[in-house]
Amino acid sequence: MNISIVGTGYVGLVSGTCFSEMGNHVWCIDVDKTKIENLKSGKIPIYEPGLEEMVLRNSKEGRLEFTTDYAQAVPSSDICFIAVGTPPGEDGSADTRYVLAAAESIAKNMSGYTIVVDKSTVPVGTSEKVRAVIKKVLDARTDAQGIEFDVVSNPEFLKEGVAVNDFMRPDRVVIGCDNARSEAMMKQLYEQFTLNEHPIICTDIKSAEITKYAANAMLATRISFMNEIAKLCDKVGGDVRAVRQGIGTDSRIGMSFLHASCGYGGSCFPKDVKELISVGKRNGIEMRIATAVEDVNNEQKHILPERIIQKYGQDLKEKTFALWGLAFKPETDDMREAPAITVVTELTKRGAKIKAYDPQAYEMAKHYLADISSDAISYEPDMWTALNGADALILVTEWKQFRSPDFAKIKALLKEPVIFDGRNQYDPKAMKAEGIELHCIGRGLV
Ligand SMILES: NC(=O)c1ccc[n+]([C@@H]2O[C@H](COP(=O)([O-])OP(=O)(O)OC[C@H]3O[C@@H](n4cnc5c(N)ncnc54)[C@H](O)[C@@H]3O)[C@@H](O)[C@H]2O)c1
Repeated sequence: MNISIVGTGYVGLVSGTCFSEMGNHVWCIDVDKTKIENLKSGKIPIYEPGLEEMVLRNSKEGRLEFTTDYAQAVPSSDICFIAVGTPPGEDGSADTRYVLAAAESIAKNMSGYTIVVDKSTVPVGTSEKVRAVIKKVLDARTDAQGIEFDVVSNPEFLKEGVAVNDFMRPDRVVIGCDNARSEAMMKQLYEQFTLNEHPIICTDIKSAEITKYAANAMLATRISFMNEIAKLCDKVGGDVRAVRQGIGTDSRIGMSFLHASCGYGGSCFPKDVKELISVGKRNGIEMRIATAVEDVNNEQKHILPERIIQKYGQDLKEKTFALWGLAFKPETDDMREAPAITVVTELTKRGAKIKAYDPQAYEMAKHYLADISSDAISYEPDMWTALNGADALILVTEWKQFRSPDFAKIKALLKEPVIFDGRNQYDPKAMKAEGIELHCIGRGLV
């Protein structure tokens, strides 16, 4: 099939590349000229394991092309995916202006029957708006008589860090359609990805749109729930990891997304929970669970600064902290809503200096932490230089290389052997044996 993907970000680039991997011809379109020029010369704008080699191979073989020009891509496309950003607006509702702009540009360039797919995470009812925009443009075009189109919702469930694998082997594909023609073409496109018998679920369009928000809000709920249980453990005694084991082995519950931590971040959970609250409000429904999930998480992002202030006091002018991990999770460079932003902001506000190390996220971090002066934060060449002369180590992102470090070396480099572990990576008993003061989440203080 001939495919266009509009928006060449985390979702667009991965989806486009994976579709081309299956033999389809794919145009990736973006309004960001630098991004497209870089991609044309083989420079990948994001860090995502396995993506670079797949992009280079499919580009070389002519199945994957990049452009800023819709006219180059859309006329020959059977299916146009919209995968642009839907950031939260002032009131928390998802901003669909980029989606509608993309729909307009697609409509201006359609030359025959085209399926326009919302892959962006969009509020329920957006497909109707996309349909109206396309119809308006086609009606105004003198050369568009008889051009037919369908709008489909196909939410994306990939996880950054394992996005290529998730796309190539999805748990399920959800397709919201309102007619057999578009449903058949979408099924044909996705059949190659579901040979392992994971289902293609065809629904009405609104159910597909709601499914994406329900999925992310459910996962965020599990995290906030465990963070609340961790709070209880810290207060009354108990180990949240033992509790996780105790409940996660119940087949009705399962182990995933039950880790207590310094909060969830990223481009999806925070904004999708916000939109769910907002869509409820717009429709006279108070989304009480989603609201609580958001409140708990906003508090949780402050847990590390609070623990640090508890130990050292409000004035941190004389303190330097090593910070391991900036990205919102391992195996990505994405810093959107990362807990590290709260940690760095709160500590530097009180005069602390941060020596940060992250294997991938410096470019993004410099953007998201642009307000923090270079006197207050340094981006270190490796995890060990970050420790050199610091008062304590703060672990924010659980990159694999931080999981089992040389604790003797940590002790030798830090002024005092103190670790604030925001991801419960280190075993309290082992730390006690090492003589390290460990502050973790929901496991008591060692
Ligand atoms: N990142 C994830 O893990 C993930 C997972 C599932 C779903 N989603 C959803 O997918 C959507 C995209 O997310 P992302 O993280 O890939 O965003 P992103 O910000 O990484 O990429 C969006 C891209 O769209 C481009 N763009 C904006 N307007 C455009 C236009 N009119 N024409 C062409 N290009 C345009 C931007 O320049 C940017 O490169 C969002 O709705 C998000 O919620 C994201």
